[in-house]
Amino acid sequence: MAKLRVQSFGVSLDGYSAGPNQDLQHPLGVNGLEVMEWFLHTRVWRDMHGQGGGETGVDNAMAEQGFNGIGAWILGRNMFGPVRGPWPDESWKGWWGEEPPYHVPAFVLTHYARAPLKMKGGTTFHFVTDGIHAALDQAKAAAGDRDVRVGGGVGTVRQYLQARLIDELHLAVRPVLLGGGEALFAGLDLRALGYECVKSVAGERATHMFLRKR
Ligand SMILES: NC(=O)c1ccc[n+]([C@@H]2O[C@H](COP(=O)([O-])OP(=O)(O)OC[C@H]3O[C@@H](n4cnc5c(N)ncnc54)[C@H](OP(=O)(O)O)[C@@H]3O)[C@@H](O)[C@H]2O)c1
Repeated sequence: MAKLRVQSFGVSLDGYSAGPNQDLQHPLGVNGLEVMEWFLHTRVWRDMHGQGGGETGVDNAMAEQGFNGIGAWILGRNMFGPVRGPWPDESWKGWWGEEPPYHVPAFVLTHYARAPLKMKGGTTFHFVTDGIHAALDQAKAAAGDRDVRVGGGVGTVRQYLQARLIDELHLAVRPVLLGGGEALFAGLDLRALGYECVKSVAGERATHMFLRKR
């Protein structure tokens, strides 16, 4: 059965998955890049950016499996970009340039309606204004028998966890302290929600934790 998966989700030792004060210069918030530093060295990341090389160790293997079998994505509006409030125009098309790395439909949660945005390489951004269940229904329909990946950001992952809709969660825990930002676990009792850690793998720059819903 198709699953709802969170993959390669970076988190600092003190539980933050993004720094504070996101803006154009800081897509992951101030100091937030430190939680994704493990990913930036991988061949997967370099391929996504049209660059050769990159490391092919454990971190790369962990990043790679996160793209396997994914038929649609769900993103929060802040992961899509730094624009807040009503869309001033249609000019913001995501952080990723003309050809985003999704290559399948991506459903963006927002309170502000916008027409679908077709990009190069198979990604179409659909803006969903009626909540997490509607986004999941649409993503599942688009994905068919493949899985749906919740890409983030933090608030989006938290809502799907709180609703017990995530089947599998792969966290890349980084040995850094952010001190502030978007806290992944604050106020969430993952144990009571039925999650357990089933595997832990030491990578080069992160420890990979795999959680499942019982
Ligand atoms: N550590 C990682 O692996 C990782 C991965 C991805 C992203 N990130 C980072 O996470 C940060 C973003 O996380 P975030 O928590 O700030 O935001 P987010 O989850 O990306 O987006 C939150 C926004 O999405 C819209 N939204 C969310 N749920 C909604 C709902 N149920 N109905 C309607 N609209 C809804 C709202 O925007 P509006 O009200 O404005 O429409 C809300 O403010 C960024 O810094 C990003 O780079 C980290």
